[in-house]
Amino acid sequence: MKLLVTGGAGFIGSNFIHHMLEKYPDYEIVNFDKLTYAGNLENHKHIENNPHYTFVQGDITDLEKLNEVIEKYNIDYVINFAAETHVDRSIHGGCKDFVLTNTLGVQMILDAVKKNNIKKFVNVSTDEVYGSLELEDPSQFTEETPISPNMPYAAAKAGGDMMCNAYFVTHGVPVVVTHCSNNYGPYQFPEKLIPFFVFKLLAGENVPVYGDGLNVRDWIHVRDHASALDLLLHEGVAGEIYNIGSDNERNNMELTKMMLEILGFGEEKIEYVTDRPGHDRKYSIDASKIKKLGWKPVYTADKFRQGLEETINWYKENTAWVEGLRNKKKDEMNKFQDSLEHSKDKMKSNT
Ligand SMILES: NC(=O)c1ccc[n+]([C@@H]2O[C@H](COP(=O)([O-])OP(=O)(O)OC[C@H]3O[C@@H](n4cnc5c(N)ncnc54)[C@H](O)[C@@H]3O)[C@@H](O)[C@H]2O)c1
Repeated sequence: MKLLVTGGAGFIGSNFIHHMLEKYPDYEIVNFDKLTYAGNLENHKHIENNPHYTFVQGDITDLEKLNEVIEKYNIDYVINFAAETHVDRSIHGGCKDFVLTNTLGVQMILDAVKKNNIKKFVNVSTDEVYGSLELEDPSQFTEETPISPNMPYAAAKAGGDMMCNAYFVTHGVPVVVTHCSNNYGPYQFPEKLIPFFVFKLLAGENVPVYGDGLNVRDWIHVRDHASALDLLLHEGVAGEIYNIGSDNERNNMELTKMMLEILGFGEEKIEYVTDRPGHDRKYSIDASKIKKLGWKPVYTADKFRQGLEETINWYKENTAWVEGLRNKKKDEMNKFQDSLEHSKDKMKSNT
C-alpha cells in the first residue's frame, strides 16, 4: 500500500502512522500536513529516518499540491485526519479556518481522489456531527442517526462528510466516512481536556470544569481508533459510514476525579467555570457495525483506568516532548488559557 495520510502530524494521525509502520513495515506512508499550531513533527522523531516514511508540508485546500504528491509517490490509498479540531477555538476565535479545512479541504481531497483513481479514501470524522443526546436518553448514535451538528466545528466536519456522500453517489468515488468518539492517549496537543489537566495539575494549578461537569463523552484509546481505521482502510465498504467507540461513557466529573486520584490530588483542585456555549450534553456511540467486521477495542471500559494511567505517565515521562511544545507553541497554548480566563470572569460576574 502506498498511503497518503493528510494531517498526520496531529494527535490521531501521528498515532495512526506509528500503528501502521509497526504493523505493516513494508507500506509506504506519505504524511501531508500543513503544520498548523496543532501539527508537531516531534511526534515522528523516532521514524524520521525510516525509508518507508516521508513528510511533505502542504495544505489540503491546495488541490494542485495534492495532485502533485499523489502522482509523485504513486499513492493508491488516502486517509484524512487534517482538520481544525478545537471546539473552543471555533467558538471564541472565529470559524473560517474550520470551514476551509474541514469542508472545502475534504472536497479538494475528493477531487484529487477522483482524478487519480485512488482505490479507497477514508475520511476521519467525529460523533459530534450527530448533535447531542439528553443525559437520561438511553438511545445511541447509529450510522442512520440524522446529522445535526450544534457547534461550528461539528458543522464544518459535517460539511466534509456530506461532500463524501455526494462524491460517492454522483461520481462513484470510493470513500468511507468514520464517526469516532473522544480520543485519549499520547501526543495530544495540551489544549484538549486530558493533557491540559495533566499539565495544569503538574504545575500545581487548579483544573477548570465546565458547568455542572455532568456532560458525558465516550472515551476511546487513540490506538484502538487507529486499529479501527486500519481495518476500514482494508475492509470498509465504499459509500458506507462506520461509527467507532469503546462503550466507555464517562461524565467530565468522573473523568476529572479519576485523574486527580491517579495524580494524588484532592477535589479542592476542581474549579467550576461557565459552561461552553452550545455545549452538547451527551454523546453515545453504537459501534456494532464495525464490530461485525471483527474490530474490538483493547482498552474496553474496564481497562479505562489503566489506559488513563498509562497516558498520564506518558505525559509525565516524555518531558522533552512536553518542553518542546512549551518552547515552540507557548503562545498557542496560552490562547486557550485566555478563553478560560474569560469563562472564569463571566462566572464571577454572573454570581
Ligand atoms: N481528537 C478527538 O477526540 C477526535 C475524535 C473523533 C474524531 N476526530 C477527528 O480526527 C481527526 C484528527 O483529530 P486530531 O485530534 O488528531 O487533530 P489535531 O488538531 O491534533 O491535528 C490536526 C492536524 O491537521 C493538520 N492540519 C490542519 N489544517 C490542515 C490543512 N488545511 N491541511 C493539511 N493539514 C492540516 C494540523 O497541522 C494537525 O497536524 C480530525 O478530523 C478530527 O475531527 C478527533
